[in-house]
Amino acid sequence: MANGKAGGDQSSGNAGGQQVSPAGPLNLDALRSLTYGMYVVGSKKGDRFNAQIANTVFQITSQPPTVAVSINKNNLTHEFISESKVFSASSLCEDTPLPFIGRFGFKSGRDGDKLGGVNYQVGQTGAPVVIDNAVSYIEARVIDRVDVGTHTVFIGEIVAAEVLMQKACMTYGYYQQIKRGTTPQAAPTYQQKKA
Ligand SMILES: Cc1cc2nc3c(=O)[nH]c(=O)nc-3n(C[C@H](O)[C@H](O)[C@H](O)COP(=O)(O)O)c2cc1C
Repeated sequence: MANGKAGGDQSSGNAGGQQVSPAGPLNLDALRSLTYGMYVVGSKKGDRFNAQIANTVFQITSQPPTVAVSINKNNLTHEFISESKVFSASSLCEDTPLPFIGRFGFKSGRDGDKLGGVNYQVGQTGAPVVIDNAVSYIEARVIDRVDVGTHTVFIGEIVAAEVLMQKACMTYGYYQQIKRGTTPQAAPTYQQKKA
């Protein structure tokens, strides 16, 4: 036992003689040391296209190559991926301008066409693949999904991928510390400011 007392020790002073384990620390600052990239995730619904910023894209297996992304259920992109079962993820370069990230990360496709004026191609899956500021891209077909409350984790098998330029990718840490970028509440990694 962590505190060296056997269960049922009446001398402990705890009601019913139960041992109360001291709660472990819950310092959510520890989550800040998890590292991520910065991606524009695109999808479609019928002939409509949409895209959003996500930092939670990561590879799960190599054979077959699969990736996962955690998408907020309120996002238009969630509706589109759920419907079409396809998505793309374009990895952003370090010098991506903040307004470009703001366009995809702080606005919803429900309020306007976010892809207007942006260079993208229609990929093999039919999903839009954003080319502007992209170091590389992948396209995936959803093979599974996990309901995690506020978000759904979509698991996709990669069906197409390409490297577009030799530049440094933007990490989530670089976005926060160097670009001084912020993160909206819809993102899985959102942390409330301390009072
Ligand atoms: C740095 C950053 C990281 C983000 N990461 C995620 C993410 O991993 N998953 C998610 O659902 N939303 C994430 N978001 C929030 C969405 O991009 C945002 O809610 C977007 O407006 C949704 O657009 P939509 O409604 O057109 O799909 C992130 C935003 C930023 C700025």
